[in-house]
Order: sequence, then C-alpha cells, then structure tokens
Amino acid sequence: MLALSGVSAGYGSVPAVHGVDIVVGKGEAVGLLGANGAGKSTTLRAISGLVRLTSGRITFLEKDIAALPPYRIAELGIAHVPEGRQVFPELTVRENLEIGAYIPSAKAERSRSLDLVFSMFPVLAERRKQPAGTMSGGEQQMLAVGRGLMLKPRLLMLDEPSLGLAPVVTDATFAKIQEIHALGMAILLVEQNVSRALTLVQRAYVLDSGKVIIHGTSAELANNKNVQAAYLGI
Ligand SMILES: Nc1ncnc2c1ncn2[C@@H]1O[C@H](COP(=O)(O)OP(=O)(O)OP(=O)(O)O)[C@@H](O)[C@H]1O
Ligand SMILES: [Mg+2]
Repeated sequence: MLALSGVSAGYGSVPAVHGVDIVVGKGEAVGLLGANGAGKSTTLRAISGLVRLTSGRITFLEKDIAALPPYRIAELGIAHVPEGRQVFPELTVRENLEIGAYIPSAKAERSRSLDLVFSMFPVLAERRKQPAGTMSGGEQQMLAVGRGLMLKPRLLMLDEPSLGLAPVVTDATFAKIQEIHALGMAILLVEQNVSRALTLVQRAYVLDSGKVIIHGTSAELANNKNVQAAYLGI
C-alpha cells in the first residue's frame, strides 16, 4: 500500500533521514520506533508532503506521491495525527472534528463520519461543545485521532499517541487504536514506548540517527538483543 524507498529528507541543508526503506501493506499495523531525534516525525512528514524529499521515492496505492502537496496526499487516503495532538484549543471538539473532513470527499460524508467518531469515542460526544484546549491530555489525543478518522483514510499515521499520558490513559488510547485497526485500517505508528508499540503492531522498523537499523516482526524485535538493551530495558 505504502512504500518508501531510499527516502532522504531534512530541514534546510541538514538531512534528518537517510535512505529509508519502509513498506506498509493493506490493513497492516506497522511501527516506526526509535529514540528522540531519530527521524520518526520527519519520516511521517515526508509521507504527508510536509517535508520534501532530497532523494528517494514514496508510492501509495501505486501512485508516486513524493511531489504532491499535502492536501492531495490526504485525498488519496493518508491521515496524519501529529505529535503533540495539535488540536485547535479555542475551537470546540465538534469544530475540531469537522476540520478533519476538509477534503471534498470527506466533507460529503461529514455527518456520517461524525456519528462514527462519536460512537467510537463517547467522551467526544459528551463534550462536543467544549473548547478543545480545556480537554485533558488523553481526551485531546482521542480528539486528534478522531479528527484523523474524519478524513476517512485508508492509512492512519499516528505520531507518539502516548506522549505525556499516564499509563492507564495510554492503555485506553492503544485499545482504541487496536479497535480502529480491527476495522481494517492500515496503521503506521510512531512510538518511543517500544514495548507498548510492539504489542499492537505486526512489524516494526527501528530508526537511529535517520537510518533504519533493524526491522522485523514484533516477535523478532522483542527478542532482538540490541532492541532489548536499547529500548526495552532488558
Ligand atoms: N523544523 C526543524 N528544523 C530543523 N531541524 C529539525 C526540525 N525538526 C526536526 N529537526 C531535526 O531533525 C532530526 C530528526 O527529528 P525528528 O523530529 O524527526 O525526530 P523524532 O524521531 O520524531 O524525535 P522525537 O522522538 O523527539 O519526536 C533531529 O535532529 C531534529 O533536531
Ligand atoms: Mg517526533
């Protein structure tokens, strides 16, 4: 479904990712793991068209998307739930969700999608009129995921959904992501919480200093000595 081959990208003259190869199959849940500054968010931004490639290729459903503007990439079915949620604090929960359906095909389905998100996240339904900035961190994460779903994507990319959340709230967030994946949606999950992420994804890539250093199934990574030492505290 999604394939990155030899992707390099960065900011100004400083490359942040070098020669990255990643694939995500239809309906698959894939992890992109690694420490601070490894290039995880940059990789997602390159897929979304927010950062331009300096070399390499990105295809989605067999189309070359590397040169497309972000809204065209969204139209093809890629939703990006950014690091730090990035909800609009002054707008209500409902308004934030409606913004998620900004492309024409999603706009036409907006009220149906809203019902779906409200049924999946009852807390968002209860608080639909509340300004997003007054919601808790966990609620804002649910809102950010809900806003991504409003696009009716085929691939949902999540950048550190557990960031800053208490363990019990992280569990609730991961349970929701699992539920969304079970509906058939492909997931590309960026996480620093490696042990948690490996319980959700089927395969994962580990980035270090902008390069993929290890990839494999979740079981392979969980048993890999280097992964255990660097990320699992074993
Ligand atoms: N807007 C920017 N301008 C310049 N350099 C940037 C910018 N954003 C990120 N970088 C640099 O690119 C590299 C990769 O950053 P990136 O945000 O992709 O890492 P990350 O793996 O997502 O880290 P974290 O886990 O801390 O979110 C880092 O060296 C970072 O300093
Ligand atoms: Mg990041």
